[in-house]
Amino acid sequence: MRRAVALLFVGLLVWGLVGWAQPGKEYVAASETTLAAVAQEVFGDSAYAPAIMRATNAKSLADPAYLKIRTLDMKIPAGAKLWVPERAWAEAFMAFWDPNRPEDLFGGGKLVVGSWWTAGGEAEGLNALFEIYDEYYPDVQIVNATIAGGAGFVFRAVIKPRLIAGDPPDTFQLHAGLEVEGYSPETYLTPLDKLFEIMGWTEVLPKDLLDLLLYKDHFWGVPVNIHRANVLWYDKAIFEKYGITPPENWDEFFSICEKLKAEGVVPFVMGNAGGWEAAHLFETILVSTLGAEGYKGLWTGETPWTSAGVTEALEILKKILDYVNPDYAALSWDGAGEYLIAHKGAMMIMGDWTNGWFMAKGYEDYGWAPVPGTRGIFDALSDTFCLPKRAPNPINALGWLMVCGSKEGQIAFNTRKGSIPARTDLTAEEKALFNPYLQSCMEDFARDAIVPSVIHGAAAIESWVTDFKDAVNLFLATKDVAGTQRALVEAAEAALAQMGK
Ligand code: GAL
Repeated sequence: MRRAVALLFVGLLVWGLVGWAQPGKEYVAASETTLAAVAQEVFGDSAYAPAIMRATNAKSLADPAYLKIRTLDMKIPAGAKLWVPERAWAEAFMAFWDPNRPEDLFGGGKLVVGSWWTAGGEAEGLNALFEIYDEYYPDVQIVNATIAGGAGFVFRAVIKPRLIAGDPPDTFQLHAGLEVEGYSPETYLTPLDKLFEIMGWTEVLPKDLLDLLLYKDHFWGVPVNIHRANVLWYDKAIFEKYGITPPENWDEFFSICEKLKAEGVVPFVMGNAGGWEAAHLFETILVSTLGAEGYKGLWTGETPWTSAGVTEALEILKKILDYVNPDYAALSWDGAGEYLIAHKGAMMIMGDWTNGWFMAKGYEDYGWAPVPGTRGIFDALSDTFCLPKRAPNPINALGWLMVCGSKEGQIAFNTRKGSIPARTDLTAEEKALFNPYLQSCMEDFARDAIVPSVIHGAAAIESWVTDFKDAVNLFLATKDVAGTQRALVEAAEAALAQMGK
């Protein structure tokens, strides 16, 4: 409740500062003038005239008291009201506006946002970003173009052909890391280096994340969060009833499983309807058996896939299948979570979007711990938004990216989504807006060894992720440890060769 009040307060504060418009201020012409002269006066540079024209036209769509400017050299009559954007916005506009697109000087239009955020927590987080965007750009109509399916496997299959056909949304969700390779960014996406520079994001984002974001020496997406993949969620009521504490290692995990199975409780729940959830679980087991450096080495060629740690991870996964809910193949990750809410299943390993989902469901009886054997390691991923080269409304998308990268945006989004802000410059009061899980997550991220998630796009190129996922899915049926390890070795060889390693 206190958090809700505080959030409302921050919201009102933001609203009070900016009113219903992008950051900037009103300017009333004292005498007849030109946009160039106004730009010279307020920015010390007449070249910023297009930025003022765009901002004023956008404002005038929502409030006719503002001047409607038809051409860049139109005479501005005395007493006319203009909207002068903040310098950073004006700089970003000038860096990204294509003078061959005069239509972008007029404001309005749509912002088509592509993502796979349809589950509880995901949808609320996205909506919080939309609300801020709406405040800044009331002239723009937001189109929420979601394609359901956790981890974005369905989404990517739909969006890629659209991108290639020159029919992309204005911006879409993209994991930080090697996932971007699958979109041939040099051909289809706009590098965002200049935006990072103007907004000062390289100063406020953690180095691990910046390293992950750089692909072929460019930034292709603006990160809105950091998620953790290696979390074990448990139902506190069940743990209390049977006097159980969270397992630190797999031996403890399996003795808990035995105990609960004997009591008629489903010890471990999972869904695999999306075909990626079991592979997500397996990834976190690999982190436990190989450690941070060993796991990271799997994706660079330094750790051989023939390692005993890989065999051990497969053995663990095989054993987990003895304790899992029988309907796992039919359930999505959130569907599986219902077992916990109903106090019918005890433990679940899934990323911390589960925390957002629990919040959205009003379920508070959950505890969390690192996946057994991974204390001190943070299996990380980050959601970013990119700017397609052929975005129909690139300037509307630019405003969206600025909201995504802003503190206001990241606080509003992450408190609902169940992730932590990508930015590290939150004050103690701002951190206090996050729930206890997220506060502990912020501390862990600052302290732990960070490793990249494979299933969520950070560690490997797309073809490798697919091979990895397919090998795990086949394993669920065959339980063939040696055969699966061979398949994983082959997948690594093929991918490393493609990557020139
Ligand atoms: C991840 C994504 C998260 C979360 C999850 C389940 O790949 O990064 O934001 O939504 O999928 O859909």
